[in-house]
Amino acid sequence: MENNYKSMITGLGFDVPEKILTNADLEKIVDTSDEWIKTRTGMSERHIADDSIANSDLGTKAAKKALTMAGIKAKDLDIIIVATVTGDTPFPSTACFVQKNLGATNAAAFDISAACSGFLYGLTLANTFIATGSYKNILVIGVETLSKITDYTDRRTCVLFGDGAGAAIVQPSDGTRGIIKTYIKSDGRLTDLLYMPGGGSRHPASHETIDQKLHYLRMEGPEVFKAAVKAMGDAADEILKMAGMKSSQLALLIPHQANIRIIHATARRIKLPIQKVFVNVHKYGNTSAASIPIALTEAMENGRLKKDDYCLLVSFGGGFTTGGVLLRF
Ligand code: ACO
Repeated sequence: MENNYKSMITGLGFDVPEKILTNADLEKIVDTSDEWIKTRTGMSERHIADDSIANSDLGTKAAKKALTMAGIKAKDLDIIIVATVTGDTPFPSTACFVQKNLGATNAAAFDISAACSGFLYGLTLANTFIATGSYKNILVIGVETLSKITDYTDRRTCVLFGDGAGAAIVQPSDGTRGIIKTYIKSDGRLTDLLYMPGGGSRHPASHETIDQKLHYLRMEGPEVFKAAVKAMGDAADEILKMAGMKSSQLALLIPHQANIRIIHATARRIKLPIQKVFVNVHKYGNTSAASIPIALTEAMENGRLKKDDYCLLVSFGGGFTTGGVLLRF
């Protein structure tokens, strides 16, 4: 296996809102049960932003923690990439709001839209920027306030999503550790499986779009489930093949936290024992682009991920998008 590392993660941090929405709370809002939610999704609770909290507030808090761990200042940042589908405003980018909050006056800042795969698309971009030799300090944030686009009268979606942010500082590799391979792919034929119809140029916001609830996310759950199991398995297989590695060499798999059954299916596909899979979907639900950086930070803080460990990150999301990043931590 080649060891031509270009970049490495040197700082991590995450933040979730204080307010918790439990399965018992949801039982009072829609026709559901704790038992149904737990057995079908693995979720017990999720964190929800109140009206005063926007994406950039959560993203800024996560970013400050990642900067502290990396030991650099906001002014050292060359680029800020924010992955999200629930930006503070359609424009400017949430990345520009985070830039303002941090005082990162020397950075270029922009958002990317790749739904739940956004953080891995961001890491891939950061790795590529650093490989050019022109950039040294890149902040990648995955942040989402999906509660703001969730219809809390629709039991098929409202039990699934939570809010949060995770951030990583990516810098040139020290030569011994870092990102080994990245994999990103999309299938635009599946746009209708998971999307928010209103508020864009197709259906600009109007009284009609509100009446028709076009400002909420829509999802074909079972179709997404099938596509997700295939996409996550394909990504994991493909990236291991690209790196010439076997799954037995992995210390940890960190999959997008969308559903415990999708997570188990992915582990089975690459023949990885479940003990080597990081799971926190019970605590946060599906936080979309924030899910992997939150899990990565927790895995490090809990001692599940140690220096020099091989770790595989895989995701799927609306689009349909798929991502994979293999790294030596
Ligand atoms: N509580 C109780 N019953 C429910 C609920 C609920 N919250 N939701 C649906 N049901 C019912 C359905 O109405 C249906 O009843 P019926 O048989 O009488 O018609 C029954 O439960 C089975 O419904 P299914 O949708 O077939 O259930 P399934 O086992 O597929 O689970 C789920 C649904 C959890 C949504 C699953 O399909 C899933 O996880 N899909 C993937 C979702 C996902 O990962 N989305 C995120 C993508 S990433 C991104 O970009 C944000």
